[in-house]
Parts: sequence; structure tokens; C-alpha cells
Amino acid sequence: MSKYRFETLSIHGGYTPEATTHANVPPIYMTTAYSFDDVEHARRLFALEEGGNIYTRLQNPTNTAFEKRISLLEGGVDAVAASSGHAAITMALLTLCRQGDEVVSSTEIYGGAINLLDKTFARMGITVRFAEISEPESFARLINDKTRAVFIESIGNPKADIADIRAIADIAHKSGIPLIVDNTFATPYLLKPIEHGADIVIHSTTKYLAGNGTSMGGAIVDSGNFEWKGNPRFTEFNEPDPSYHGVVYSDAFGRAAFAARVRTQILRDIGACQSPFNSWVTMLGMETLALRMERHSSNALKVAEFLDKHPAIERVDYPGLKSSRYYELAKRYLPNGASGVFTFEIKGGREAGARFVNRLKLFRIVANLGDARSMVSHPATTTHSQLSDEQLVAAGISASTIRLSIGLENIGDIVEDLQQALS
Ligand SMILES: Cc1ncc(COP(=O)(O)O)c(C=O)c1O
Repeated sequence: MSKYRFETLSIHGGYTPEATTHANVPPIYMTTAYSFDDVEHARRLFALEEGGNIYTRLQNPTNTAFEKRISLLEGGVDAVAASSGHAAITMALLTLCRQGDEVVSSTEIYGGAINLLDKTFARMGITVRFAEISEPESFARLINDKTRAVFIESIGNPKADIADIRAIADIAHKSGIPLIVDNTFATPYLLKPIEHGADIVIHSTTKYLAGNGTSMGGAIVDSGNFEWKGNPRFTEFNEPDPSYHGVVYSDAFGRAAFAARVRTQILRDIGACQSPFNSWVTMLGMETLALRMERHSSNALKVAEFLDKHPAIERVDYPGLKSSRYYELAKRYLPNGASGVFTFEIKGGREAGARFVNRLKLFRIVANLGDARSMVSHPATTTHSQLSDEQLVAAGISASTIRLSIGLENIGDIVEDLQQALS
């Protein structure tokens, strides 16, 4: 299957009509469990002596089709579906970290993820230190003996900061640490982090992968490139796991050791599994990913150019604009478009911003992004509202920052709505 190109894989990847019913579209297997042939069959599956379905918290044929598809699109060896993007981040990091360990993350990430890392992980005794995405060396300065992962977003939420993935991957690898990239905004159509050195890719499939605003979901993709075997920072990959028949992950699963450990230990215990129905909806969305990401990106560029010229606008931060400090990085990492989300600052501060948002008619005020509808939000009072003033400044967000998620409507209608609200 991997010989096919992106658009073909996004339609056919992960599923060939199955032998019993020949269903042309992947069926939704709404079952919690699977009947074993006999006691010996059940024993072999539980003992990992044979592959197969045991229980939907661990694996399900619809989820498996989705996992194969996202893995093919990102260029990984395996993937694990999760119930949300946050579940994916949490399970990826819990697979690597235990109490006393540390993570270095970029500051320029989704506000909810900052909260998760800075507050909830701190309660579990895992310290997350925050570096500047535009300064790869700031990651190197925060890595120490306890660091177990570097975490970044390829395109940061909300300000569309572009990561120099290769530079940050090199820094992480010099210390024997994997780089985790949240690729939610870019999707593998616009950018494949694994090609630039990422070891693990995360998605909130809630956004562009599903693309229709109906279904929460997440994914963890294992590149298969990180050397777990013998790495002194990751003893749990190299010693028998007492919670799973004494398996040694780096021996038993080779290149797919990380994904195997996410599934057999962390997903099993945390239980943040994906619903087969949501995997199915997400797969339907993925069939049109290439077409949608092209249109999201071209519509967003036109909107950014319109706002950039408008006298009521203070500044526009879209990496596809020549004026953006990320323009050169965007050309390198995102040659097919810079996706559909960005922020701008309106003149007149919070008051003017609120008036503008309230006057929009086509744009909906929504705490979401990445579906077919154009949406607007005010990060300081919504998605990033739990952040302290210092954290907001570090993330480049002010009271007058407005985030747009540009949809797939006719570009004339999108621009006219912005125009009437600004006038
Ligand atoms: C970049 C990014 N990653 C992760 C998440 C969390 O995803 P979910 O809402 O599916 O848990 C979000 C949510 O907005 C996001 O924007």
C-alpha cells in the first residue's frame, strides 16, 4: 500500500474490502469484545504470542484501519488512536515519563496543552520546562539528565508559529531524547514531521483530519526511527515489564516499540481509547484531506492579504505572508500552503475586537478550528484563558488578538463578511 501517493493513501490506506462481506467502505465494528476460538486461543492472544483483537480498549478493526491510514500518511511504522488530542499527548508522554522526569516543550502551543503540561503533569511529579520555538538553542539550554522528551507543535496554536523541526530534532537527538511533534494544524498533507527528524507525531483528529466538526479524536504515530534499545534514559523499554508478562519492548517489538508500549501498557491502563464510530467519521474526512487543506490554505492566504492591507488592522501573523517572521521557514516546511488558522491584531484593543467579532455574520464564534466552517475566537478569554499574564505574553497573545480558522466557503463570501464587520 505504501507505494501509493498521498491522495490515494488517504482514500484507500488501511483498508481493503474484507473477505466476509466485501464492504467497500470500512465498516464500523461497534463491538466491545471478540469471541476467542477456545481457551488456548485466548491465552495466546493475552500472552502476545499471537496478534488479534481482545477488547476494544486495546484494539478494534475500525480503529486499526484508521491507525494504519494515519500511519501511512505520516510515514510511520504504527499508530495508536486516542479519544482526543489531549488523550494522545497525555498517553505519549506517560509512555516516556515517570515521576521525577522532565519534558521540554515550546511555549507556542495550544493553551489547553500548556495547562495540561504545566499544571496536571506537575501534579504527577513530571516537570515541563518551556522553550522558545523561534530559538532552537533555548531547548538545548533546558535539557538535562531528567529530560525524557521534547514536545512542539509544527504550526503553533494560535499564532501559527512555524517550528524549525530539523534543528530541534537534532538538539533532542544529541541528548538521546525523542522529539514529539503535534502536527494538528499542518496535517500530513502540508507537512510530514517524520521526514524532518520527528520521532513521534501527535494529532488532534478533532480538527482537520475529521474536518467536519463532529467527532473528537486523537492519534499517536510512531516513526520507528528512535533508538530505544540500550538507551539509558529509557530503561522501561529495555527491562522486562512486570505488568505485561515480562515483555522487553525494544526486543519484542523492534522499531514499533514505542507504539506497542503506548497500546499494551498506557492505553490499556489509562483507557482513553477511540470510539470506532469516531474513527470511521475521521476516515471519511481523511478521504478529502488533500483537497481541503489546499483550499483552507489558499482561502487563508487571501484573507490574510486582505486584512494586511486594511486600515483597521494593526498586524497580521500568517506565515504565508512575506511580512511574517516565519515566511522563510514556511517556504521550507510548508511549500504547499500554510494551513487555515492564524491571528491578527485589530486597532482599538479589546473593545474594538469584541465589536468586530460580534458583527461577523458568516463566521461563527467557536472554541474549535479546522472544520469546513469559518470560525473566529478570542484566545485570551477562551482557549488560552487559563494562562497567566506572563504565559500569554510568552505565547504572543494580547487582549486584541483574534484567531480565525478559515473554512471552505466561497472566498468572496468570507472576505465580504470580514469587510462588513470591519467597516
Ligand atoms: C494543536 C492542538 N493540539 C491538541 C489539541 C487538543 O485536542 P482535543 O481538543 O482533540 O483534545 C488542540 C485543541 O485545540 C490543538 O489545537
